[in-house]
Formats: sequence, C-alpha cells, structure tokens
Amino acid sequence: MVKVITYGTYDLLHYGHIRLLERAKALGDYLIVGVTADAFDQARGKINVQQSLVERIEAVRATGLADEIIVEEYDGQKIDDIRRYGIDIFAIGSDWEGHFDYLRDYCRVVYLPRTEGVSSTDLRTQSRNVRIGLVGELNMVNKFEAESHFVNGVTISGFYAEEQTFLSEAITRLPLNAKNLDELLDVSDAVYIVSHPAHHYSQVRQALLRGKHVICEAPTTLLSEQWDELTALAQQQGCILMDSVKTAYSLAYSRLLLMAKSGKIGRIVSVDAVCTSLTDLALKRGKDLSNTWNSMCQWGPTALLPVFQLLGTDFVQKSVVSHYSDEHDGLDLFTKVSFVYPHAVASIKVGKGVKSEGELIISGTEGYIYVPAPWWKTSYFEIRFENPADNLRYFYQNDGEGIRYMIISFLQSIARNEHLTYIQPEVSRAIVSEIDYFTHSDNVVKI
Ligand code: CTP
Repeated sequence: MVKVITYGTYDLLHYGHIRLLERAKALGDYLIVGVTADAFDQARGKINVQQSLVERIEAVRATGLADEIIVEEYDGQKIDDIRRYGIDIFAIGSDWEGHFDYLRDYCRVVYLPRTEGVSSTDLRTQSRNVRIGLVGELNMVNKFEAESHFVNGVTISGFYAEEQTFLSEAITRLPLNAKNLDELLDVSDAVYIVSHPAHHYSQVRQALLRGKHVICEAPTTLLSEQWDELTALAQQQGCILMDSVKTAYSLAYSRLLLMAKSGKIGRIVSVDAVCTSLTDLALKRGKDLSNTWNSMCQWGPTALLPVFQLLGTDFVQKSVVSHYSDEHDGLDLFTKVSFVYPHAVASIKVGKGVKSEGELIISGTEGYIYVPAPWWKTSYFEIRFENPADNLRYFYQNDGEGIRYMIISFLQSIARNEHLTYIQPEVSRAIVSEIDYFTHSDNVVKI
C-alpha cells in the first residue's frame, strides 16, 4: 500500500484545495491530511485564518478524500509523521517548490501544480473589505497603518489630523487627507481614533451617528456618563465601539493573564504595573503642549488593564497622587494610583516626565509573575517561586506589539456584529471611570 501525506490550513475550503487533495490521493492508496493547529499557524505568521481547527477538519473530512486526518502542531512534525505513519510520498502544492526537499531523506517528495486564481487569502479579502479611516496625530496612527498590511480585508481610506507633524510618509500618501471628520467618514466604514482624548467623545459620537464602527485609543471618553451614552448609541446604531489598548492583544500578555487566572501562582494578592516614557515631552520641549496626552491618559489604560482584568473592578478604596510642574501646562508628569480590594492590593505608576522601571509584577500566595520592562510589549515573562530551580520562563512572538491582532479582532467583531474584543466592557468602563476621577476629582493629591 502506498501511503501519501499532505498538509495545509484549508481555511474556507475551495476548489484549489480539493484538486490538490484529489491529485495527492491519486499518487497512492491511502491519504493522510495534516491540518494546521491555530497556534502553529499563528507562530508561522498566518494570522488571518477565519475558521477554527474543528471547522477546517470537518471541511476536509466532508470532501471524502482523506483516509485519515491529523493535526500539525509543531515545527519538525512532518519528519515525525513520515516515520510514525510509514509514509511513502509527501505531496504539497507547487507554491512550496523546493521548500520541503529536506524530507527526501525520509520519503519521496512531490510538488503538485497549484490551481491558479483561487486562494484562502483572496476569499478572506473578498468576504470583507472594511475601509478604515485614521483620525489623529500620534505615532500610533503610523503603527496602525503599517500593521493593517498584515490583515486581510482592510483598506485604509484616508486620514484626518489637525497637526500633521508626526505622520509618516505612508500616511501622507493615503488617498485622502480629509479637511474634516465628515469628509473622512464619507469614504470609510469604520474609523480608528487616536486624536487627543478631549476630542474623543465628539468624534466617536459623530462617527456612530453616521453608522460607522469605531475603534478608539483608550480612554474613549473623559467622563463615565459619556462612555455610557456612546456605548448605548453604538448598540442602537448596530455599530461596534471598541477600545484600543494594544497590550490586551499581545500574545505574551494574554497568555500570562490566563496562567495567573488558572492559579499557577496561587491566589493573587497584589498587581503592580509601571509604564513610563520620556520621549514625547522631550520632542515637544518649548512647544505648545495643548495637544499632548497627559501621563494618566497616555499610560493609565494600559497600566490599569492587568489590575482590572485580574482583580476585577470592585475595589473598596483608592488613592491617587499626581506630580505636576509649572513648565508643563498642567500635564501630570507622574501619577500613582493605589487600590485596596477585599483580599488584594494593586498599584499603577505612570509617567511622561519621570522615568522608572516599566515592569509588571503579579504576586500570589505560591509565587509571582515577573514581566520585565517594557512589560506592555514584552515577548517574555517568568513565573518565579521560592525555589529558583522551579522558575518557569515563557517566550512568545510579539508581532506588531499586538496591533495586528487587535485589528483582526475589530474586523471579526464587525463581521459577526458582536464584541469579540479582549477587553471586557466592565474593564473599559472602569478605565474611563479612573480617568474621569483623575481629571475631575478634588481628592487627587497634587504634589
Ligand atoms: N493549494 C492549491 N491551489 C490553490 C490553493 C492552495 O493547490 N489555489 C494547495 C497548497 O499548495 C497546499 C494546500 O492546497 O498544498 C493547502 O494550502 P493552504 O495554505 O491551506 O491554502 P491557500 O489557499 O494557499 O491559503 P492562504 O491563501 O491562506 O495561503
């Protein structure tokens, strides 16, 4: 019996796949199809896959061409499989010509002609094309544009920025440099807003009223009531309104959150997050600072994320201390917020005029998670125990600081008309409420 094996993702199964499977089957008597696991695809940079592993396996099964289906989970598995299943022929589409010649030490390698004119990538792009307009001036606009190229089914329709100093060449080459937000909304299905937080409320509202989906750099508003109003408006309009905090979508952060929640360090008793950066104020030395984000708006949402995602939003006590200096137009240069929960404590320190070690420490009754600076875009963390020999180290890819995964999540939310975001609504609300307190409460201690 001649045994043949082939591998693929088989997302949105199309006739190119079916013809490939038919040709592979015709090479022998028994066909094994390896379907790639989600994590394996992600690790090799294939991030746009739309169907789950189970759906993709079912689609391959339904062709009736596979005698056996296996899952491909790790690099080097092909050699293992060829030996384990006694494979005679490894077959794959000609787009991989030459790539698998190393398998010739183990079996025959056949490259089969690829069917022209169809691919999962094309199908994904056709099934959705969301035109996103960019609003704002920060460097994040540039990053968002650059990362959008990794995502199928997005075009950037243009931009609207009051101050155009920090925009990259790629942005200024976009089809439209809108004179006002309305002009941008005319050619967009959705907008990414990263203007100064004082403009968020009116811009988000304007976009929602015109039925456009919105992803807005947190904080979405400066007042809790405004957040409630906009959330209700989004629902009424059938639009997605999503917070942009890229860290929530970075692989290392989302994995450490799951590990902390699954009890790896025992019961969590303290969460301490620090985020600081000096570059922005240094660049603007001597210039007008009215369009500059203060420390709390710039870093607060990111630093508060692990606190609220791990300990919840029902703290019983809070204190806020902020450091100001006269020369910086009322910007807080450094702010520390401390929380007391019934059985835990937390603190965040954020600064644009003070530098500190940007680490995240989650302390538990059996150990702690240590994420080195800059923790908000880390690809690495450690779980540390009393006995250092028990320490565990974790490495993950951090492609695009999480931004491309955030865009995918936004598109999926739009396509399915439901929130598939990694930031729970109560966490978004609590973040806004902290910014509101910081901006408006007399209880903030100023030093
Ligand atoms: N294949 C093919 N003809 C096509 C598309 C795919 O013969 N038009 C083959 C590939 O060469 C591979 C197998 O089908 O051997 C599975 O490929 P997969 O990567 O799942 O499909 P693509 O459509 O190429 O997916 P993507 O666009 O995501 O790369």
